[in-house]
Amino acid sequence: MSSAAALAPTLAFLAELAGDGRALEFAIGTGRVGVPLQERGVQVAGIELSEHMAAVLRRKIDEDTLPVAIGDMATTAVPGEFTLVYLVYNTITNLLTQDEQVECFRNAARHLGPGGRFVIELGVPPLRFLPPGQVAVPFDVSEQHVGFDTFDLVEQILVSHHFTRDGDDGRYRRANSRHRYAWPAELDLMARIAGLELERRVADWDGEPFTQDSAKHISVWRKPT
Ligand SMILES: C[S@@+](CC[C@H](N)C(=O)[O-])C[C@H]1O[C@@H](n2cnc3c(N)ncnc32)[C@H](O)[C@@H]1O
Repeated sequence: MSSAAALAPTLAFLAELAGDGRALEFAIGTGRVGVPLQERGVQVAGIELSEHMAAVLRRKIDEDTLPVAIGDMATTAVPGEFTLVYLVYNTITNLLTQDEQVECFRNAARHLGPGGRFVIELGVPPLRFLPPGQVAVPFDVSEQHVGFDTFDLVEQILVSHHFTRDGDDGRYRRANSRHRYAWPAELDLMARIAGLELERRVADWDGEPFTQDSAKHISVWRKPT
């Protein structure tokens, strides 16, 4: 996911939307996307909750070149106006309530100038794979890793479970993460609440059409001029 070849379509898509303006990455993490986007000539800033992740980013690029504010992307403000705010790799789901996700859209809108765009990359909730009466959907079953999602359909919460082989002694390390999944239509309403309009929805960074079989979407909302 971090290779130059894998990132090329993502960077091209985001650079075109940023144009001559500045880009703000919500949940920038270790800079997997933000650092090469900056290196491509776009001025990038970031917001990140984890000081540890930001410290890894800081080993790649200095604060003057790519400033990062430590805080929650739903509420943290950074100085200046942006032509692009983006939030990739399903990270909107780390906000575990609808209210927090709405606040995230509002915060994106606050940072955009007129005509600016908010971009989200997000998987379509894989509920079509969940047969009646079952609670789990496996997404990877191999010697090294067993991964499956469990669902709380009432609360719209998905938990991803990972059992990863640790060395050769047959032991598996267990980890899980909790997410609030949301359908594209719900995101469109959140965008409207934040004063943004849907401009484009595609199935991947290459711009393939979004269909009922798409596993994920890249959505672009625009702040009216
Ligand atoms: C899956 S990583 C994605 C990082 C980066 N955007 C990328 O694509 O490589 C998710 C990141 O979101 C951060 N994060 C989670 N909740 C957040 C929040 N409420 N505000 C800001 N960052 C958050 C995590 O600390 C982590 O660095």
